Amino acid sequence: MKILIAYHSGTGNTEKVAKSMKEGLVEEGQDVSILPAKEVDPSSLKSYDLVFLGSGIYGGAIGKTMKDLMSKVTEFAPKFAFFNTHASPTAYQKAFSRIGKKIEKNNSVVLGEFDCIGENIGIPQEKQIEMLSKLPAEQKKKAEEHMEKIKGRPDDKDLERAKEFAKSLLNK
Ligand SMILES: Cc1cc2nc3c(=O)[nH]c(=O)nc-3n(C[C@H](O)[C@H](O)[C@H](O)COP(=O)(O)O)c2cc1C
Repeated sequence: MKILIAYHSGTGNTEKVAKSMKEGLVEEGQDVSILPAKEVDPSSLKSYDLVFLGSGIYGGAIGKTMKDLMSKVTEFAPKFAFFNTHASPTAYQKAFSRIGKKIEKNNSVVLGEFDCIGENIGIPQEKQIEMLSKLPAEQKKKAEEHMEKIKGRPDDKDLERAKEFAKSLLNK
């Protein structure tokens, strides 16, 4: 299959996931292109069999270059998959919902979404702690523990999971 992996990654976490997915797909003999969303020609999507769209989460939403790209696409690949990285303990299941609706309206299918924790390296730790200062003590403690726990993610395990996710879609 001809596959495109397009991503928005401000601080590199989503890019790591994208590269691991590419590795897995190439291992399976697929023809894979990987590009930052801002370098993707919107008219090219229709030429792929499967397109992966990935982004970090910023203020609860996907990155601007991904939104911009998908707002310009008028002809779609038959199959899509999504992936996102975020720092919060809970998953962002709706990050791509608007884009997903547009894709399905155009009779393409969304095969699945991969969710991954990514350490917030874009906001200095002191600033993040300051942002938590208004929380009740117990919540603040939990949030600080979570910040500590997600250091270094996505880690090797996450990247392996990303690879397996990408490969699992080849039979769908
Ligand atoms: C400006 C900014 C805003 C963020 N907002 C959120 C958010 O609303 N929810 C969340 O879970 N993570 C948030 N994060 C954390 C990122 O989603 C997370 O670190 C992600 O892995 C970044 O991906 P990237 O390295 O590909 O840009 C934010 C990070 C930055 C820098």
